Amino acid sequence: MMPKTTDSRGLLSIIACDSGRAFAERMMVELNRISKQEGDDLFHRLKYTTEVTFPNGEIKVVINENIRGDDLYVVQCIDDPLSEKSVNDNLMALLTAVHAGYQSDADHITAVIPQFPYSRQERRKTREAISAKLVAGMLELAGCQRVITLDIHSEAIQGFFNSAKLEDLHASSVIIDYLQTILRIDPTRLVVTGPDVGSAERARHYSKRLGAHLAIVDKARDYSGISKIESMRLVGRVKGMEVLIVDDMIATGNTLVNAIHLLKEHGAEKIYVATSLPFFTGDCAEKLNREYEKGNLDLVIGTDAVFQGKAFIEKTPWYREVSVAPLFARVIYNINKKRSVSELLK
Ligand code: R5P
Repeated sequence: MMPKTTDSRGLLSIIACDSGRAFAERMMVELNRISKQEGDDLFHRLKYTTEVTFPNGEIKVVINENIRGDDLYVVQCIDDPLSEKSVNDNLMALLTAVHAGYQSDADHITAVIPQFPYSRQERRKTREAISAKLVAGMLELAGCQRVITLDIHSEAIQGFFNSAKLEDLHASSVIIDYLQTILRIDPTRLVVTGPDVGSAERARHYSKRLGAHLAIVDKARDYSGISKIESMRLVGRVKGMEVLIVDDMIATGNTLVNAIHLLKEHGAEKIYVATSLPFFTGDCAEKLNREYEKGNLDLVIGTDAVFQGKAFIEKTPWYREVSVAPLFARVIYNINKKRSVSELLK
């Protein structure tokens, strides 16, 4: 066992809930590569856990190895398209795993959740909950001291934590690398936009890093129904250009399809999409398939923060997946070694 030294926060222990296992395993590969490169002489593996679902639907996670005094990371992908378990089941599994870590006397507990649940319920519009604040509170109550996530929908959620720290990683570097080295986009012919004003800052970031043009889509929501959109208009020129739409997430796909139609009406030649969290909820994939077949959509680049699985990737010509697992692994390594992570958060 690695002795506890002042240049580390203790033995790095990683456990996964069932839906976080695939992502955690991809992270471990990179973690072992980094450890080897740094000459640590350590092999990292996931510690054994069991996730139990009782006949009435209650859930618990049991940690089957000693973690006393460890620097513990609990990995969970809460919205998992490859599992029958709901978002709420997976959130509960995460909470019980964190609390099991607390009860087992881990020194530090970090939740590694590439998708922060309920992040779109971060402000109140009528007589309703601020559910993202509830999630932050529940994580802290369970014993969580830090949360690592990806492109959180609203940065204001940081302020919902009283004691735990929130590290918000960005998929942009991995996606930009794909656009430049694999897709070889020509920035002089590219306009970056988001599907709504809320994503304008993200679009500006991509356009700056790519050296491309910028346009803004203004989306008005109709709050009388779920995921209903009232109207959309475009500020900027896209005629004869290739367009990259960037968004933190694609859920039902309604926002995206509306933006695609608007951009096509304004003469966009090709449409690429980049998203950190490709949830593709319900019939979203079929909707995007139709747009692809009509020639309205060329490519969607998503990350493995929402792992769609090999079969989906093989049968979906418009989808490419890039991995953010190496980024998470590097951040975990640096936190454990008490090194800076700010360069990795850009
Ligand atoms: C909205 O503010 C978000 O950034 C996404 O554009 C939106 O949540 C995507 O949802 P859907 O795909 O259901 O329209």
